Amino acid sequence: MTKPVRALELDELRKRKSSKWRQYPSDVLPLPVAEMDFPIAPAVKASLQDMLDRSDTGYLGAFPELFEAFSKFSKRQWNWQPDTTQIRIATDVGVGIVEVMRTLIKAGDKVMLNSPVYENIWKWISEVKATLVNVPLAENELNYKLDLDAIEREYANGIKLHILCNPHNPVGIIYTRSELEKIATLAKMYGVIILSDEIHGPLTYNKKQFYPFLSVSDDAKEVGIIITSASKSFNLAGLKCALIITESAMLKEKINSMPPALTWRASLFGAVASTAAYSESDEWLDGVLITLNENRNLIKKLIDSKIPTIKYRIPDFGYLAWLDVSSLGLGSDPAGQILQRSKLALNAGILYGPKHSNFVRFNFGTSEEIINQAFDRLVKIL
Ligand SMILES: Cc1ncc(COP(=O)(O)O)c(C=O)c1O
Repeated sequence: MTKPVRALELDELRKRKSSKWRQYPSDVLPLPVAEMDFPIAPAVKASLQDMLDRSDTGYLGAFPELFEAFSKFSKRQWNWQPDTTQIRIATDVGVGIVEVMRTLIKAGDKVMLNSPVYENIWKWISEVKATLVNVPLAENELNYKLDLDAIEREYANGIKLHILCNPHNPVGIIYTRSELEKIATLAKMYGVIILSDEIHGPLTYNKKQFYPFLSVSDDAKEVGIIITSASKSFNLAGLKCALIITESAMLKEKINSMPPALTWRASLFGAVASTAAYSESDEWLDGVLITLNENRNLIKKLIDSKIPTIKYRIPDFGYLAWLDVSSLGLGSDPAGQILQRSKLALNAGILYGPKHSNFVRFNFGTSEEIINQAFDRLVKIL
C-alpha cells in the first residue's frame, strides 16, 4: 500500500533557503509561494547525490533520457505518449513561454489569458510587449469554466496566441475534454496558437480527469504547444528545467528555430532530477497526493467549523486553495490585513485578476499542524 508522504517539521522548514522560507521574518507563517513542504522523492535525492559525489556540476547538453522518461510517465498517467523527437528543454516554464512567444509572435500581437489566473502569465505577456486580452472564466459558486462564446468572439478579433492554464491555477479546476476539443477546433478555425501550461497536471487527484492538450484531438496537435515541468509536482523549482512539447511538423520546425542556448540555460541538475522524478517516483507522487487530498478536505473542515462564511470549492488538483474572504470585513487588501494582524502570509487575490481582491490563495502543500496553525492565526483576528 502506498505510504503518505508527510511534510517536514516547522523548525526544519525554517532552515530552508528557498524564497518561501526566506521572504518573511521568522514570526510569519509563510503560505504563499507555490512550493511544497515535503521531502523530495528518494530517487530524485539519490540522483542528485550521485552527481554531487562525482562533482558532476557542468553544463546541460543533449539529454534524451529526460524526453523518454516524460513520454513514458505521460503514458502511465494519462494514456498519452508524446513523440520524444518533438520535445525541447527550457530553463523553466516561465522562460519557455516567453521564448516561445518571442519566436511565434511580434510586439503588439494579441495574446489571451483567462482571469483569475497565475500572476506571472500577466507578466510574461507584457514582457514580450504583446497586447493582453483577458477573457475571464465564467463562474458560478466558485465553479469556473472557459467562456467559449466570449473566447470565440475574441479569436475572431485577431488573437494570435492563447495561454491556457491547464489545470487552472488558482481556481482549482481542470478543463473537460470537450472544452479542450472545442478550444482546439476554434483555434484552428481562427489561426490561434494554444500554449498550454500543464505544470500542475501530475497533481490531479483523479488522474483520468486531466487531459494533456495535445492528446485531445488532431486539431489540438496542429495548434497546440505544451509547456510543463517536474518543478511543481516534484518540488524541483530551484533546479531549473522545463519541457516544450509539440506534435505538428510545422510547430516543431518553429520551435527548433529557437536558439540552441535554450537548453544550455537550463540546469543539468534539473534534467537529472526531472528524469528520476518522471521515471522512478510514481509512488512518491501518489504518497504526496494522499496527504494533499487529506489537506484539501481539512481546509473544508476548518472553514465549516471555524469560519463558515469563507467560500471555498475543494480544488480538483494541487495544493492551492482559492478562498473568497469577502465576508470577513478585511477591506480592500485582505491578504495585507491578514499578514499584518496575524503574521500569516497568503497570496492576494488581486494578483490573479483585477476583480479578485476579495480572495486569498492558501498553499496547503504542507503539514496538518501548519494548516491548523494558519487557521488559528486567522480566527484570532476575526
Ligand atoms: C501555472 C503555473 N505556471 C508556471 C509556474 C512557474 O513555473 P516555473 O517556475 O517553471 O517558471 C507556476 C508556479 O506556481 C504556475 O502555477
